[in-house]
Amino acid sequence: MTCNKLWYKQAVIYELNVRGFYDANSDGVGDLAGVTAKLDYLQNLGVDLIWLLPIMKSPLRDGGYDVSDMQDINPNYGTMDDFTTLVDETHRRGMKIMVELIPNHTSDQHPWFQASHDPNHPEFQKYKDYYLWSDTDQKFKDARIIFIDYEKSNWTYDPIRGEYYWHRFFYHQPDLNYDNPEVQKAMMRTVQYWIDLGVDAIRVDAPPYLFEREDSSSENLPESHAYYKRLRAFVEAYSPEIMLLAEANQWPEETRDYFGDGDEFHMNFHFPLMPRLFMALAKSDRTPIDNILARTPEIPECCQWGIFLRNHDELTLEMVTEDERQFMWEFYAPDPRMRLNLGIRRRLAPLLDNDQRKIRLMHTILLSFLGSPVLYYGDEIGMGDNVELRDRDGVRTPMQWDDSINGGFSDVEPQKLRIPVIDDDIYGYQTVNVKASMEDPTSLLSWLKIMIMIRKQHSVFGEGTSTLCSSKNKSIIAYFRENEQEKILVIANFSSESQQVALEEMGIKDEELQDVLNLYQPVVLEDRILTLEGYGFRWLKVGSA
Ligand code: NOJ
Repeated sequence: MTCNKLWYKQAVIYELNVRGFYDANSDGVGDLAGVTAKLDYLQNLGVDLIWLLPIMKSPLRDGGYDVSDMQDINPNYGTMDDFTTLVDETHRRGMKIMVELIPNHTSDQHPWFQASHDPNHPEFQKYKDYYLWSDTDQKFKDARIIFIDYEKSNWTYDPIRGEYYWHRFFYHQPDLNYDNPEVQKAMMRTVQYWIDLGVDAIRVDAPPYLFEREDSSSENLPESHAYYKRLRAFVEAYSPEIMLLAEANQWPEETRDYFGDGDEFHMNFHFPLMPRLFMALAKSDRTPIDNILARTPEIPECCQWGIFLRNHDELTLEMVTEDERQFMWEFYAPDPRMRLNLGIRRRLAPLLDNDQRKIRLMHTILLSFLGSPVLYYGDEIGMGDNVELRDRDGVRTPMQWDDSINGGFSDVEPQKLRIPVIDDDIYGYQTVNVKASMEDPTSLLSWLKIMIMIRKQHSVFGEGTSTLCSSKNKSIIAYFRENEQEKILVIANFSSESQQVALEEMGIKDEELQDVLNLYQPVVLEDRILTLEGYGFRWLKVGSA
């Protein structure tokens, strides 16, 4: 395994929902040509890797994670030509593209399932074992149900085949049977197919659930890891620049296994860290972060964590204790409509009371801590959410480009939009939009652009070590990022009150300090004590090197 192609360690990732980004052909649905039309915006923001939520053919009952053809584009989003144009134009601007692989399941509309569930189908024999069928719904009892607000069992009865089929997610998303070598091969071919189309990275959806075994949770099984190692070996041989990112929503010890010995996934999201950033902010106390980092193992040198604040799903509270979940729900989701499954279906700005100080503080940590940051479209302008919409649609509303009809997302009549644009007094497109944000040098967007630029000037944020300091003042989080070139101390204040930090506690005696966010402003210290305003933060370069 070579370690010298580490572009993903330096990448700022931008996750976007094609359906909600920009409607270039005025049919009310965002499309690939729409993303191409907005590439200059993304380049200007400074992102490196554009993560497209699923674009494959799908009945869209789970935002496209219910795939009916893994090697075709959803016609609502355009054509294969539109996709290759998007890839080319992205590359031309020096950015990269990440698509989704959804290996665990398909839609029940997928031709494989259509053949598998119908004994009279001409291809029944070929596909009958592509999914997990059983004459009882009592197998694999120890596997949890994930979408608890929608599903009562992981088995659903199919009256045509007269058997139950297994599904870890919605009932209309049957799980593929990885004990069938044909399924394993089909998924490898899908990976090859998207690599051939020129993508740079692949986010692998729901990796823990590939295999099922009795008397186990059927998560993280050795068989699943063995398959991912084969997948990685194939990618390594076929196209070694490709990055594989796992969406393993697990405790750190289990997630660690998805890196293997540097021979499985290049990147993994650090799911348990995310709610703890919100907890620390709510309690003005960094202890939850200390605790989860203490539980976070070292990862192989070529590997990288992916960190995020929000994404297209509910803010998941699966990787917290029962007490912590109650706290998070009471604090961040007081209205029951804000809760979904084991999580919170709200966007970043409303979660943080639209308080610019808190929003910037959280972004400052996102951009400087532990791994590659993932931004979620719309959060860079402080978009709101809509709890009236079903499932997770409320956090997937159209991007707000300007104050024209539909926020500039589409010029169809508003009633024709599948998901309505946010139109309330605080977060409505009339005030919260890209155009207004770009024109205002003090906006979140303008600030974020500068922060991304500064992050990129310091390779230490992408590939340096990350060491937490144990300062007595728990309202403060402080960590060193360090590589051969430089050492940067990040200090942030989770409390609304100003706080004092003794630099000696961080092991800093008389080293020179330079504020990398304000190069021309000397760092003001009194007796080596730094004062941080409420929700304030600093990035301090230590030493003169
Ligand atoms: C995880 C995805 O992020 C989520 O949106 C989807 O519903 C499930 N996997 C099932 O594919």
